[in-house]
Amino acid sequence: MNIPKHIAIIMDGNGRWAKKRGLPRLYGHHAGMKSVREVVRAAINAGVGVLTLYAFSTENWNRPKSEIKGLFGLLKLFIKKELSDLHKNNVKVKIIGRFFALPIDIVKLVKEATEKTSKNTGMILNIALNYGGRQEIVDAVNKIITEGVYKKVDEKIFEKYLYTTGLPSPDLVIRTSGENRISNFLLWQSAYSEFYTTETLWPDFKKKNLMEAISEYQKRNRRFGGL
Ligand code: IPE
Ligand code: IPE
Ligand code: MG
Repeated sequence: MNIPKHIAIIMDGNGRWAKKRGLPRLYGHHAGMKSVREVVRAAINAGVGVLTLYAFSTENWNRPKSEIKGLFGLLKLFIKKELSDLHKNNVKVKIIGRFFALPIDIVKLVKEATEKTSKNTGMILNIALNYGGRQEIVDAVNKIITEGVYKKVDEKIFEKYLYTTGLPSPDLVIRTSGENRISNFLLWQSAYSEFYTTETLWPDFKKKNLMEAISEYQKRNRRFGGL
């Protein structure tokens, strides 16, 4: 069956999930981490080639310090807990975003994860961390200027300077929690992606929901501007 090669997910609704239960927002993020674990496994089993997860946007720095700290704490916990299993499953971990602007302990841990799994040949787990689509485009432009090799670029050359260089564009972009916006995610790459939004909050999004999104994708007629 036509399984999307690249699925990208805007994992949204953790805060609302917690609020509905009268819990602090961080509990929602913690529950969301369990969905990440399940969805990663489901994607591997479904034969997805690349799974991109939007974990932290450049705009998420506008949140309270305590929440940001909590989010990074959970990310560390996730890597520490999951890395050996991901490695066993032949998963290659990649990061996109302004990586070096992250706290040093996160940088170290993430480096360890990407290095340890760099030779793996299975699914690519691409984590968007301190990621912004506009920033990515600006960073690409500045790299091109600094290198000074090109006076003029085309789309093919330009793409090589994006964080996602070498990866296929997402076939399917999923957003949970009923929001219908892109929130600065993969602006260049999603030009012809199929969008799937669901009211389901991220902590409630499990294998079944991923399979539903994939089966909806399989009914779509992608035309890429043609007939
Ligand atoms: C998504 O859940 C997680 C991150 C953005 C890091 P939110 O924290 O945005 O949850 P809501 O949207 O407030 O419910
Ligand atoms: C998008 O969710 C970012 C991530 C999922 C990491 P947000 O909750 O930050 O997006 P907005 O603010 O609702 O657009
Ligand atoms: Mg949100």
